[in-house]
Amino acid sequence: MHIGIDFGTSYSAAAAIIDGELSLVRFGDAEQFRTAVFFPELVPDPNDFTLTPALEAQLETQLRLARTQQRQQAAAVAARGQAPVSRSDDELRREALRVVRRQWMEEQTRATSASVASFQHALFGEEAVEGYLESGGGNLIESPKSMFGYRLDPQVRKVIMHIATHILEHIRLSASHQFGVPVRGAVIGRPVEFRSSMGAQGSEQAIEILREAAAVAGFDHVSFLEEPAAAAMHYHQSLQQRQYALIVDIGGGTTDVAHAQLGGGEAAYIARSWGLPKGGTDLDVSVSLHSFMPQLGKDQISMPAHRYVDAASVHNLPKQREFRQQNYRLVDEPYGARLRALQELGATTRLNQMAERSKITLSTSSRHRAELDFIERDLAVELGSEDFLAAIEPFLGQLERTLATVRNDLDELPASVFLTGGTSRSPQVKARVQACFPEIPLVQGDPSLGVVSGLAVAASEAVAGRH
Ligand SMILES: Nc1ncnc2c1ncn2[C@@H]1O[C@H](COP(=O)(O)OP(=O)(O)OP(=O)(O)O)[C@@H](O)[C@H]1O
Ligand SMILES: [Mg+2]
Repeated sequence: MHIGIDFGTSYSAAAAIIDGELSLVRFGDAEQFRTAVFFPELVPDPNDFTLTPALEAQLETQLRLARTQQRQQAAAVAARGQAPVSRSDDELRREALRVVRRQWMEEQTRATSASVASFQHALFGEEAVEGYLESGGGNLIESPKSMFGYRLDPQVRKVIMHIATHILEHIRLSASHQFGVPVRGAVIGRPVEFRSSMGAQGSEQAIEILREAAAVAGFDHVSFLEEPAAAAMHYHQSLQQRQYALIVDIGGGTTDVAHAQLGGGEAAYIARSWGLPKGGTDLDVSVSLHSFMPQLGKDQISMPAHRYVDAASVHNLPKQREFRQQNYRLVDEPYGARLRALQELGATTRLNQMAERSKITLSTSSRHRAELDFIERDLAVELGSEDFLAAIEPFLGQLERTLATVRNDLDELPASVFLTGGTSRSPQVKARVQACFPEIPLVQGDPSLGVVSGLAVAASEAVAGRH
């Protein structure tokens, strides 16, 4: 059986067409899950140390080395006419044992972080975020898709690969269980352009990672379909009359646009696509920088601005590490103590959740209060719509420029604009898209499940094509 998989930056979903009907894969009670994985770090237990024959041999080597060193030092000291200070054989043995034990611990730590053992206890979705915040340890990887297109050192690439594998396996097993047949194939959605630090090469690497991860996760047949093309499939089936439409999918990590000929009972034809590697997660960072970070000293003290960007960029592991490694002991109060609180495990994740919540509330309300108790007792921020608009204006400007390019590239205006993606829930974002195409109707699709529905259709056609 083949399924469609929307491996989203923020949310993932899967579906299949069964007897001509769309059937969504359920994850617990939900039809999608937050694309996050938490895996507890398996720290080696020092009590597990016992002297195996191999370690005994290491101990003897250490001891011989220590005895030789002691003899050489004694000879050198005696040559200077001084009395040598010698340590008993027991002392030397204790010291050698300490060294062997330390080497063993280091080796165990290396082995656990390099192995997949620690992935066995992984948690997914919201549970992953909660598990991380509650456990006070381990690793949380949110939105791994954001990192697929970045230059990754081999160790990080391996971790990202494991995570992608785990997510795809979770989806495959959930689907197999629900449908009662082994799921062996998938059509996976891809953005037109992945978020990347290496241009087009980043998108190639991202596809490589997904392809490899899907194979390990047990999929024998995998193909990819651009996300806006998938969203178009869904719209396509609902159109009686053949028309050119513009599909705009504004998600968590990327904004994708496709110009497609749809409907009228003929096959859908995707003529062209455009991508802007920005989305809702960038809005969260903007809200955080605009409204929260001033409480931590941004624009108040002489701290390089990029430190705040590092702290707000929860999906960028190197930036998070960089922020946590800084020493804020000498920063003026109250900002020093607040920055140190933000360095605590899980604090940047919590702040980011608050920024996302503020964004969602302010898309329909004029005020929102965010309590920052975990930074400092009674610390809170009041946000108004004007703050929200100022924070998201850079993204709206980029969206507008992308849509202006699209408009300019087209010979004729399309008949309609079909809007989908979680970020399109924001009336401000929707208004900006409409303002770029005031002459034609804006059709709002299902913001969450449009892409996965189209992928399910493509997956059923992939199977039909094979037989
Ligand atoms: N009411 C709302 N206003 C603004 N943004 C919202 C609202 N509701 C959800 N979002 C945002 O929508 C985004 C998720 O959208 P979606 O599920 O389409 O993304 P995705 O498919 O995971 O990402 P991508 O397609 O970019 O890989 C999140 O950033 C979320 O905060
Ligand atoms: Mg999406």
